[in-house]
Amino acid sequence: TGTEPRPSTTGGVREGNRAAIDAPHLRIDRWWLAPAATAAGLLAFIVYSTWRAFSNADYYAAPYVSPFYSPCLADNCRDMAGGPNWDLFGSWWGISPAIIVLIFPLSFRLTCYYYRKAYYRGFWASPPACAVAEPHKSYSGETRFPLILQNIHRYTFYVALLVAGVLTYDTVLSFRDEHHHWGHMGLGTIVFLVNIVLIWAYTFSCHSCRHIVGGRLRHFSKHPVRYRMWGWVGKLNARHMQLAWASLISVAVADFYVFLLASGAFSDPRLF
Ligand code: FES
Repeated sequence: TGTEPRPSTTGGVREGNRAAIDAPHLRIDRWWLAPAATAAGLLAFIVYSTWRAFSNADYYAAPYVSPFYSPCLADNCRDMAGGPNWDLFGSWWGISPAIIVLIFPLSFRLTCYYYRKAYYRGFWASPPACAVAEPHKSYSGETRFPLILQNIHRYTFYVALLVAGVLTYDTVLSFRDEHHHWGHMGLGTIVFLVNIVLIWAYTFSCHSCRHIVGGRLRHFSKHPVRYRMWGWVGKLNARHMQLAWASLISVAVADFYVFLLASGAFSDPRLF
């Protein structure tokens, strides 16, 4: 029948008493499209964010600070009214602040269940797609170093809450003009608002958040508030992949918008 166990020793999914199917896989659709598109999208973000993080310039245009550099720890964020951000590190700070700042959201995104799936498939072909055998000889899952470190995701969720809090603060400050008068609204304010909504939606859609909110309960009926919140988080959680991409794109757009303003390529249209 072609399905008898075969004593293969080629390793990986061909090892042991797996079904003896000689074809690499039986999929006839364009299964490679999703991992290829995912890899291309992630690569584009990595190239863009690396350029921006190392450029150490054009990240502040009052009242906006790039999300890659927030909270701004450098003197560069000083404006006419004293700067909305901390200048904890003076002008002696030579390394780009983004290198430090980005560790926090990166720790959350790199260990995210969705991004794990995305880069395991897109970059490591492990597996390339559902029902397509991976080329690797052995498989240890996430049981060994370094992948066992993916378990820190549940803690990085709290880090992500802090990051979202900081970006919320920046969004609130975008309602002030460069002289710190409230009531300002520019196109950048809208860009920041869209970004922060997507950042919060992505953060709350996290699988760890869902467990923190509604996990380890014996009876939902005895915890009506948590049950209701769990329902909301569950709805977001069903869109986790879409929110991961939307917020990744929005954060890059917000940074690029600040770059355009700070580099003088564009000036922020004031809406009121
Ligand atoms: Fe994706 Fe937590 S699972 S952010």
